[in-house]
Amino acid sequence: MDDQAVWTTRCPTLVTNRLVLRPFRESDLDAYTEVMTAPEVRDALHLPGTYSREEAWGAMAAWLGQWELRGSGQWALEERSSGRLVGRAGLHRPERQDWPGLEVGWALHPTRWGLGYASEAGARSVAYAFEELGADEVFSVILPENERSAAVACRLGLSLVDERVLRHFPGRAHGIWRMDRETWDRGAADRAAQRRWSPPSTSTTSPVT
Ligand SMILES: CC(C)(COP(=O)(O)OP(=O)(O)OC[C@H]1O[C@@H](n2cnc3c(N)ncnc32)[C@H](O)[C@@H]1OP(=O)(O)O)[C@@H](O)C(=O)NCCC(=O)NCCS
Repeated sequence: MDDQAVWTTRCPTLVTNRLVLRPFRESDLDAYTEVMTAPEVRDALHLPGTYSREEAWGAMAAWLGQWELRGSGQWALEERSSGRLVGRAGLHRPERQDWPGLEVGWALHPTRWGLGYASEAGARSVAYAFEELGADEVFSVILPENERSAAVACRLGLSLVDERVLRHFPGRAHGIWRMDRETWDRGAADRAAQRRWSPPSTSTTSPVT
């Protein structure tokens, strides 16, 4: 064996209809900073006003690092028609004691909202969790007022199973959305792609069981 370095990553590249899900690259920094500092994204994720290029770089590195350390993480989302980085999506297993489990998540530049990209990348991510990782269940952790994100979870076939306060975000209950393997195996994800979610008419603060 010669001593040439071999560059590999545990983060695979996947292709969907309109997107490439791929590992983050150094050259994504400008575009990823634009995604994460867009006011709509900042508000939805409750990012501090100080969130900047520096934090965006740290986040990119952490997503790629999570793939290397845990064999799952979020992908950079590249729009096939333009070659632009338009957001991120994938799987998240943070080191948090009260985290429900393997989470599927998404964030897009607001110019790409309303196109179905999050659902497209989310569906591939859920499939990756169940089929490639052999997960028993997948969660999504969503603030009740984040109706767009809840709509994506619903379209993918996840169900709202709980609302609770998590330690990384004290004082506010998050909705806990879940899909188990049985549901996945029944093909509910395909059928759920046709569903549309509407915000509940009653208070969103009471626990849903
Ligand atoms: C959450 C977020 C990713 C959702 O994005 P989104 O564009 O609303 O979700 P989708 O990609 O699934 O797009 C769905 C919309 O595309 C429409 N659409 C258009 N073409 C479509 C297609 N070919 N396929 C599917 N849907 C399509 C759908 O009808 C739907 O329309 P609507 O917005 O009028 O309901 C986005 O709002 C975001 O980045 N928010 C900030 C970050 C965030 O909150 N992340 C989640 C934290 S929990």
